[in-house]
Amino acid sequence: MVATSPTAFPTETYNSPDTSGLRYVITSDRPLSERSPNQELLPISARVNEADHLEVGGCDVVELVQRFGSPLYILDEQGLRSACRHYREALAQHYPGEALAVFASKAWSCQAVAAIVASEGLGTDVVSGCELQTSLIAGVSPDRIVFHGNNKSRVELEQAIAAGVTVIVDNWLELETLASLTVDLPEPLPVMVRFTPGIECHTHEYIQTGHIDSKFGFDPDRMGAVFEFLSKTPSLTCTGLHAHIGSQIFETQPHVDLPQVMVGWLKLAREYGLPVNTLNVGGGLGIRYTEHDDPPSIDAWVKTVATSMQAACQAAGLDELPRLMCEPGRSLIGSSCITAYTVGSQKDIPGMRHYITVDGGMSDNPRPITYQSVYRAAIANKMSAPATETVTIAGKHCESGDVVIKDAQIASTQPGDILIVMATGAYNYSMASNYNRIARPAAILVSDGEANVIIARETNEDLMRFDRLPTRLQA
Ligand code: LLP
Repeated sequence: MVATSPTAFPTETYNSPDTSGLRYVITSDRPLSERSPNQELLPISARVNEADHLEVGGCDVVELVQRFGSPLYILDEQGLRSACRHYREALAQHYPGEALAVFASKAWSCQAVAAIVASEGLGTDVVSGCELQTSLIAGVSPDRIVFHGNNKSRVELEQAIAAGVTVIVDNWLELETLASLTVDLPEPLPVMVRFTPGIECHTHEYIQTGHIDSKFGFDPDRMGAVFEFLSKTPSLTCTGLHAHIGSQIFETQPHVDLPQVMVGWLKLAREYGLPVNTLNVGGGLGIRYTEHDDPPSIDAWVKTVATSMQAACQAAGLDELPRLMCEPGRSLIGSSCITAYTVGSQKDIPGMRHYITVDGGMSDNPRPITYQSVYRAAIANKMSAPATETVTIAGKHCESGDVVIKDAQIASTQPGDILIVMATGAYNYSMASNYNRIARPAAILVSDGEANVIIARETNEDLMRFDRLPTRLQA
């Protein structure tokens, strides 16, 4: 599936709806390698080909749907790798000490994604036994895996210990369980401790985690007690401290403040004799979902964190810089995926609203109904058709709120057109459900004109596999 003479998108944009369908592109004249994927609406490899079709990773999106079915998650390998490199290179450039970015795999946990991030030198943050298993099978090195969670089960903790990954301890129960599980280990288990930093930021209430009223992490006023406990537990070695402020953040001030707070914690931990040498600032950098979103670039975010960490260490009189860790999820993968749907029925309510319906919705992308998230769409089989219609793109589920995009500005559509929704790489597949017993879509990875299935499409039989009919109910 090799593209013919692709047309690069024009570099400026977001003008009125009656111009071409190419308007959803980012305003950058910089070479591809320098463009920060989180600032783009479409994957960085996106082009329009001679057939006027959208092409991603050198593959024609319309052909991909014909071949792999609909709906379809289409993940651009080049975009994902580019975001990994931006993190890696920015850390190397702006932070003179040791540094590591780990992918928050809750954004999209599957073997292919984990293998790609590992091959780019990143680690992973996992939050369940199965996310851990996925990373290990994909070849992520255990010393680059951190295990999060505010209610890890005993089995998950045993799994983490057996794998030799670093556990990020969240609460007293976990601390005590770990202390008992590790008594007979030949070597102490490395742990980091998560605290709530008490830093607020402007994002959706559900995805704020750094404020004091949060279910995650120890309260800062328990710090002395936690450090005291660790100093008396030789089977645990406290190598680091963690904090995460929230997600889809555009401001930089919270990440200017966070290192100062964390360096204070580090000094206190060392007073208790703990060998703390890693400060993990979590994730949170936002991405562009619409032309109104203006997140900092990956480089700018890393520079902010790195500079403020150095300043905080200097102010605190530390001789050496601690190891800096961050956990990007959304900004690593969000912009590198689109979801392709097939347009079906339409309903016009004169003077009120025109609905067009697609063959997916809240089961493959629960973000609009959960967080009122706003997305942008285009019609992949007629990219230059003027976006003259204002329509509400509805999903197919039995729920009035199942709306993919309200008042979307798109070209006139017919049943059978391929509608794509942009920036669906983060928290879409990973939060997908089987509501209405709808099987989840396939995901494919595209690169250099090649497409590979990375998540197989579910079938009705897959869903039925978990059903059990008690004998007394059988006909
Ligand atoms: N580290 C920790 C401890 C986290 O809890 C999270 C996200 C991350 C890192 C990654 O944050 P990111 O770089 O992706 O902002 N489902 C919501 C997002 C929930 C975020 C949960 N924690 C959404 O769809 O917007």
